[in-house]
Amino acid sequence: MTTMSSKKSMFIVVGVLLLSMCFMEMGAGACFLKSKARIHIINNVGRPGVNLSFRCKSKDSDLGSHVLGYRASFSFHFCPNMLGTTLFFCSFAWGGGGQSHWFDIYEAKRDQNCGDCTWNITPTGPCLVTSSAPLKRQLCYPWK
Ligand SMILES: *[C@@H]1O[C@H](CO)[C@@H](O)[C@H](O)[C@H]1NC(C)=O
Repeated sequence: MTTMSSKKSMFIVVGVLLLSMCFMEMGAGACFLKSKARIHIINNVGRPGVNLSFRCKSKDSDLGSHVLGYRASFSFHFCPNMLGTTLFFCSFAWGGGGQSHWFDIYEAKRDQNCGDCTWNITPTGPCLVTSSAPLKRQLCYPWK
């Protein structure tokens, strides 16, 4: 009887320890069972003096409007959901004229392997940087 209850309390203690380790990890900035995704957006639409305005949203968050000077960058991060359906879409505008361009800046299926996704925003569309300097390579997509 006494051994049963001490076994039981052992299970409870171990359970509580595991749970608190879980929460500590989440508190340190990790995601539950998924790795965090970081998105970097770089203004490469023109020349010095041409600002890039953009606004990114997902189903349940709105990152607000931002303006980037030439070659400046903006970063944000989030935890992709367990279903693999996380989607962030952005509108981009530059150089006056009021024309907006759209792109899905994070699409879980396409981007699940890029922990750090760096997007060069060019006039013809966003380019995903796939390797860094000196052999800088990028994969360019058209606007939506
Ligand atoms: C670009 O942004 C900077 C800083 O926000 C601002 O001072 C400047 O007037 C902007 N340039 C244009 C062409 O809108």
